[in-house]
Amino acid sequence: MVERETWISRAGFIFAAVGSAVGLGNIWRFPWLTAQNGGSAFLLVYLIIVLGVGVPGLLASFVIGRRSKRNPVGAFKSLGGGRVWTALGGLCVVTSIVLISFYTVVGGWILRYLLESFTGAYFTQPAAHFDSIAFGTQAFFYQVVFLLVTVVVVMAGVRKGIEATTKLMTPAIILLLGGLAVWAFYQPDTASGYEFYLAFDVQYLADNFIAVLGAAAGQALFTLSIGSGTMLTYASYLEEDRSLPADGSIIALLNLGVGVLAGLVVFPLLFSFVGEPTGGGTGALFVSIAGAFATLPGGRLIGGLFFFTILLAALSSSISMLEIPVAYLVDEFDYDRPQATGGLFALVLGAGAINAFDSNVFEIVAGPIVNQLLTLGLIGFMLYTAWILGDEAVEEFTKGGGTIARTVGVPWRYTVGTILPLFLLFSFYTNVISLLGISLPPVAVVGLTVLTGLPVTGSLFQAGRPNND
Ligand code: PFF
Repeated sequence: MVERETWISRAGFIFAAVGSAVGLGNIWRFPWLTAQNGGSAFLLVYLIIVLGVGVPGLLASFVIGRRSKRNPVGAFKSLGGGRVWTALGGLCVVTSIVLISFYTVVGGWILRYLLESFTGAYFTQPAAHFDSIAFGTQAFFYQVVFLLVTVVVVMAGVRKGIEATTKLMTPAIILLLGGLAVWAFYQPDTASGYEFYLAFDVQYLADNFIAVLGAAAGQALFTLSIGSGTMLTYASYLEEDRSLPADGSIIALLNLGVGVLAGLVVFPLLFSFVGEPTGGGTGALFVSIAGAFATLPGGRLIGGLFFFTILLAALSSSISMLEIPVAYLVDEFDYDRPQATGGLFALVLGAGAINAFDSNVFEIVAGPIVNQLLTLGLIGFMLYTAWILGDEAVEEFTKGGGTIARTVGVPWRYTVGTILPLFLLFSFYTNVISLLGISLPPVAVVGLTVLTGLPVTGSLFQAGRPNND
């Protein structure tokens, strides 16, 4: 068996993890969600969820990964706990395939828009143009090219592929986006853009609190890449001497900063050159913002830079998705990396084609399916960390850390074992209920959460306690 790789440096790990987190979620989804859900009031709720749920969840993933030094399936197998937990690892592998099959469709659109920025192909009729290219053979073609780039990087390995590329890509994304935000600041109607984006609409928040909470929670998981096994797998290539809480906080803050920065680019541009955005959703980035580049002096260059930045962000995320099943095949079945990656390329191509050809499948996968899979995955990671790993998890959490890590280790364990999974379960039910078109008062959903969640948590607590006889 070939020796398992590790990151060359701490910075390498942080860049790779930030590269995974920063992606379409930040640039494509986040600004729209913020603008539609009460501006900076949403931002505040989102911030609280990222710090209160996202970071502890990220750390649970890191702890399992570094402790086991395995892919998600191998991790639960080797750390123990039984079949249910190994199945949770299997769920991660499935989630990663689902994720990559829709994400590469959008990656393909971005690649195409990058090229078309220079020819101006989407300039005259942005909406009609997007509709004509979004799904079908051409979409599939660009998806395949995007996927191939991802495959080449992952095939080259953790150090020579993932670390070497994300070490360049991640700083480039931050610098380019920062540059674009500064440039956007000088555009004619920047002030209205900022106002639309960041208006503090407390009334909206008060009237739609549960819906906003659900949107913010889903976004927090997606953007931090948690619940899928990506962060678990990345942490499995870590050595012992790094503080997980410190690295996790840096990653979450950088990710948040990039999200906010993206909004500072998108909205000034829209208000200066297109007008008030009328809707978010799949085509938002490609229709409205592309329309802005059409009117803008030097729009071809700026458009090109903009889509190049997003392309880098999307690539560094799709790389991290593919690494999950690759690590699984390499660790568990001793495939060599090129074999594993090549085989997965064929599989993902098939799953991806369904998304590239059928817009209905794409919409369902990209939204509800992915959200619910990530939520379930993270609930599992949290419960496992707190009750199956227990003290071992706290030990792993504090290893390499300082006083802060030692102080928060135990409280972290108990929150990820109780309140946070219950919160996620509540958000899971809220989403399922709204998807089914049923309307239930929030207290009924709380009731359902407590009735189903407490017995599970309680029995795990019992089972996980040392000397509990
Ligand atoms: N965090 C990525 C984004 O915001 O675009 C998406 C993502 C990557 C989700 C990897 C899940 C994952 F495992």
